[in-house]
Amino acid sequence: MSTTIFVPRDSAALAVGADAVERAIAAEAARRGQPVRLVRNGSRGMLWLEPLIEVQTRAGRIAYGAVTPEQVAGLFDAGFLAGGQHSACLGPTEEIPYLKRQERLSFARCGVTDPVSVADYERHGGYVGLARALDMTPEALVAQVTESGLRGRGGAAFPTGIKWKTVLGAAAAQKYVVCNADEGDSGTFADRMLMEGDPHGLIEGMLIAGLAVGATQGYIYLRSEYPQAQRVLEEAIAAARVADYLGDNVKGSGKRFELEVRLGAGSYVCGEETALLESLEGRRGIVRAKPPLPALNGLFAMPTVINNVLSFAAVPTILARGAEFYRNFGVGRSRGTLAFQIAGNLRHGGLVEKAFGVSLRELLEDFGGGSATGRALRAVQVGGPLGAYLPESQWDTPMDYEAFAALGAALGHGGIVAFDDKVDMANMARYAMQFCAIESCGKCTPCRIGATRGVEVVDRIIAGVARPQQIALLRDLCDTMQNGSLCAMGSMTPYPVLSALNHFPEDFGAADHAKAA
Ligand SMILES: Cc1cc2nc3c(=O)[nH]c(=O)nc-3n(C[C@H](O)[C@H](O)[C@H](O)COP(=O)(O)O)c2cc1C
Ligand code: SF4
Repeated sequence: MSTTIFVPRDSAALAVGADAVERAIAAEAARRGQPVRLVRNGSRGMLWLEPLIEVQTRAGRIAYGAVTPEQVAGLFDAGFLAGGQHSACLGPTEEIPYLKRQERLSFARCGVTDPVSVADYERHGGYVGLARALDMTPEALVAQVTESGLRGRGGAAFPTGIKWKTVLGAAAAQKYVVCNADEGDSGTFADRMLMEGDPHGLIEGMLIAGLAVGATQGYIYLRSEYPQAQRVLEEAIAAARVADYLGDNVKGSGKRFELEVRLGAGSYVCGEETALLESLEGRRGIVRAKPPLPALNGLFAMPTVINNVLSFAAVPTILARGAEFYRNFGVGRSRGTLAFQIAGNLRHGGLVEKAFGVSLRELLEDFGGGSATGRALRAVQVGGPLGAYLPESQWDTPMDYEAFAALGAALGHGGIVAFDDKVDMANMARYAMQFCAIESCGKCTPCRIGATRGVEVVDRIIAGVARPQQIALLRDLCDTMQNGSLCAMGSMTPYPVLSALNHFPEDFGAADHAKAA
């Protein structure tokens, strides 16, 4: 009997040598005449432990990490095929506190199954939601998603059910489902991890969306820097087609749904939904004025559902286990779970799926294990490059959309980047303006010109030139960008800039002025 060994094929594991570890295990097993079955799974999201190898034993799956090819012979000597003790042994995978404390719904299968196998997906509860959906009317499907309280995970947190209802109500010969997999935010990797670790979860979510709104064609607009996700998605889509989940007659229902992957254009603003549609249609990614909404006038001017990867990936759970099950997680108007991606200067960076309501401090300390440098943490940027910097006084805020809005901050796509006390916040404010200047699509003046002027103003503040006047000018400029920009690129750049200025005035020399005055 062969022993099953799981070696991740996730980009994070590949980057630190997972392929070499797999080769070493195969060679060592052959040399010793010990039969093994190697499964290339997704990541469990504990990035500091990659490559995390798991062995299927009678007592369940036993984890070893971070494993190097040089350790492999020693692992065999230690009897790791039977879960033997070794310095790299982490015990039963499910008992690792980092995993055990999570509430994994969308990521329940990630790292557990063979990502591209339809049979494995089905064995772990996959395509149950679709089977239910095939027996429901589009109206009942939309109602389920609405009742679950699901809000878009791409950043804007718009209620998914309302968006779907608009598309359902639009009469058209052709409708589309588009997945936003551009994942441009700093410190984020949850979309990638899901696509590489459980692509059928996304395929199933998009299929259900198609049934709900009457769309027969789906596109995944994938960040071009994700070649591994592309490979896994293409393999999973091909397998879904063979199993009749995709095609002209989805599972004998007479309903059609097809799905294709399209590579992104490599620009941050192409993640903005209307710029994404322009890019998908073959043009330069420039933001479209709204209205009309993409729900009514989207891809090729047809009614279109556009959702983030994780919005779609939440849907199979909602259908399989019910709207009420899903909405029982969370707080206030933030229902369900969010995939927090903790990164930057932390000891234990990785993916933490938790119900809304967990505090930032729990994520930084209980999961992140504090700073990697051992110095005090000082500032945390939440929600990507357009998100605010939070000082320690705000770290007990519950992670929920409204609580963050009340702070002048945003949860965005759940990216969290921590900085220790060596960070210079005036430089971070400059960086935010510079990022906007570089990535601006150029359509509106407050963003195109404002961000360039913003860099100049921050430079003068840093140089100590007429600081009080320049700080007043910076606030004025932020007000114009916030209120006059066409999309969130320009209107949210003031979040990191003003939070840095307001919470860390000493880095702008502003405290000296207050004292002098
Ligand atoms: C500059 C900019 C970049 C964005 N990048 C992304 C992205 O990479 N992925 C994403 O899902 N949403 C991104 N969004 C949000 C999308 O415009 C849109 O709100 C989202 O695709 C809707 O899906 P959801 O309702 O499921 O969140 C971005 C928005 C802006 C303004
Ligand atoms: S805010 Fe910036 S990115 Fe958005 S439309 Fe205006 S110029 Fe383009």
